[in-house]
Amino acid sequence: MTFTVRAPAKINLHLGVGAPRADGFHPLLTVYQAVGICDDVTASRSAGWSLGVTVPDWMDPDLVPVTGDNIVDRAARLLAAHHGIDSDEVKAEVSIAKSIPIAGGMAGGSADAAAALVALDRLWGLETTDDDLLRIAAELGSDVPFALLGGTALGTGRGELVETVRDDGTWWWVAVIDTEGMSTPAVYRHFDELNPDADPEPPAADDLLEAIHTGDLDLLAASLRNDLQEAAFDLRPSLSDVIDRGEREGALRGLVSGSGPTCVFLTESADAAREVAGAFTGDGHEVVLVTHGPVAGAHVVTYA
Ligand code: C5P
Repeated sequence: MTFTVRAPAKINLHLGVGAPRADGFHPLLTVYQAVGICDDVTASRSAGWSLGVTVPDWMDPDLVPVTGDNIVDRAARLLAAHHGIDSDEVKAEVSIAKSIPIAGGMAGGSADAAAALVALDRLWGLETTDDDLLRIAAELGSDVPFALLGGTALGTGRGELVETVRDDGTWWWVAVIDTEGMSTPAVYRHFDELNPDADPEPPAADDLLEAIHTGDLDLLAASLRNDLQEAAFDLRPSLSDVIDRGEREGALRGLVSGSGPTCVFLTESADAAREVAGAFTGDGHEVVLVTHGPVAGAHVVTYA
């Protein structure tokens, strides 16, 4: 028996960051959107445990650890432990087919973890409740519950408490990928250096939520916000040129995705997105993707 589960990348339409908590995590008020750049995780019955990965040409497979400490290994062990299954009874052949950039600020590892939870739950016939899956996901990482949920959602806590936001729009994005990833903890650390007096309460997203509610594209563009952007620009100054370039080419707004370095651009339509993407490709940017959101969270796409 084999299950393939697809899970989406995320963009933070609003990433409001507060002063670090006692546990070192930052309180967030974020609005996530799942977009159509997805990883597929396939799990099959096997006599042991194995994990493999396939990547597109532009991605470096060595950046994905497949030797025991991948987030997918941890997902398998946590799911099994939740059901009282011994760690040496954790058996499956798992492969990750990646499309989401590694360390790109689009929660690719989180998507893999979410997809693995759903695939292994099905493969092992565990029937884990949605609430329990969300709790296990939260233990794995701040963005993992959202990768299960998909769509557009409000994230609070350290990002792990998610609540669906109704979103009837289809928003077109261009994602400009930088193949050299950035470290999320390093970007948060630099945020702390730049904002020593940050408010413990992360900034609200009222205008953005109103824009989603009313389907107002211009208000949406004007309300996009990423509190980590300044820190990401400092650590990788070329990103600010990428944002300027996309906005000059007709994107309504450009924004660093999460902790970067992927830059995303909101555009008026699919055609407008293709035009902006074409300009970046013409400039020599190797990986430029056109996508849209919101799309579904982790879901089974094939089983046999
Ligand atoms: O939860 P996750 O494993 O994705 O977090 C990765 C790192 O990002 C954390 O170790 C922490 O340094 C930083 N982080 C943070 N505050 C958050 C989420 C992540 O400081 N709300």
